[in-house]
Amino acid sequence: MFQPSPWRADFPAIAALQRQHQTYLDSAATTQKPQALLDALNHYYGHGAANVHRAQHLPGALATQAFETSRDKVAAWLNAADARQVIFTHGATSALNLLAYGLEHGFNEGDEIAISALEHHANLLPWQQLARRRNLRLVILPLDEHGCIDLNQALQLIGPRTRLLAVSQLSNVLGTWQPLPALLAHARAQGALTVVDGAQGVVHGRHDVQQLGCDFYVFSSHKLYGPEGVGVLYGRQHALQQLLHWQFGGEMVQLADYHSASFRPAPLGFEAGTPPIAGVIGLGATLDYLASLDASAVERHEASLHQHLLRGLADRDGVRILGTPQTALASFVVDGVHNADIAHLLTEQGIAVRAGHHCAMPLLQGLGLDGAIRVSLALYNDSDDVQRFFDALDQGLEMLR
Ligand SMILES: Cc1ncc(COP(=O)(O)O)c(C=O)c1O
Repeated sequence: MFQPSPWRADFPAIAALQRQHQTYLDSAATTQKPQALLDALNHYYGHGAANVHRAQHLPGALATQAFETSRDKVAAWLNAADARQVIFTHGATSALNLLAYGLEHGFNEGDEIAISALEHHANLLPWQQLARRRNLRLVILPLDEHGCIDLNQALQLIGPRTRLLAVSQLSNVLGTWQPLPALLAHARAQGALTVVDGAQGVVHGRHDVQQLGCDFYVFSSHKLYGPEGVGVLYGRQHALQQLLHWQFGGEMVQLADYHSASFRPAPLGFEAGTPPIAGVIGLGATLDYLASLDASAVERHEASLHQHLLRGLADRDGVRILGTPQTALASFVVDGVHNADIAHLLTEQGIAVRAGHHCAMPLLQGLGLDGAIRVSLALYNDSDDVQRFFDALDQGLEMLR
């Protein structure tokens, strides 16, 4: 039975893509944008751009007000206690790099950092490089057969030497939610700082950072239907106080002479240079739009499309789904057929999915694979999108076999 998306028309690019015979099923890489975002960008650029936190003039005051209102909206979205706990970065990657540099001073040789076996390179490489700079041990938490961090093993591996735990909330390859409450509580009891990579998790459901109990939470605006070039780093107050400044320049400084300077606290002290002003304002407008939707209807819609996707994959001979996906995406391989060949045939038929290692090479290697196809869903997809994917897959497999 056809399942429409009630929100599809809010995303003008979906109709434009359809006119180009494209079915967009790569939203875990980046999402299409709602009209509300396009309107906000148009309004900002159409009414006078200005730099923030500096100018006395009216356009500067308006831009600063809109920019800071977005910070309030992000804080409300995450249920942060205070908007000053929200630092704008250029994406999840830059937020994680900020943490790896800003916290570096707190590590001593032999200390341990724990991450999981499923991390995106963005939540692996900054810690790997920090470990190399400081002679630390990077501990990799193994997965169970479903593709979740194995809690029993993790609780053994996170101990008094663990200074930091950094884990994804929702895997970008396996679509599995990680057992964060138990992991975070255990790590904190050991005195470790906790970092949650919310790049995928933030897109599905509302998450309360206070309830989650993490020290830091990061995400990218562009995966949450917002503009590119904007990321968010939320920090618990006492955790933010441990961060040393890492990028230096305008906006973040309190006083400077030729030989020394003092710096502002979070958030502005960690937003050196001109921030992505339009992007931040656009993220605020996107959150307003998302907040206006019926969250449980969105959840039901995505869950139903996801079931359709999983059933269809399971029904096809030789298709192997990676892990046990719980939300919004599924990665798979087909026996005897290279993922790049399938991807090529899907692309030729106008199906936009992702193939390859999904920026998680060690995970794919651990599964004995050099790549997989990932289909990812968003609130604007409908059941015809999923069906078109299956029709194209069947046709492609028929040719390849
Ligand atoms: C789980 C996860 N973490 C981090 C990132 C990095 O996000 P960005 O490239 O927007 O910085 C991604 C992007 O795919 C991701 O899926």
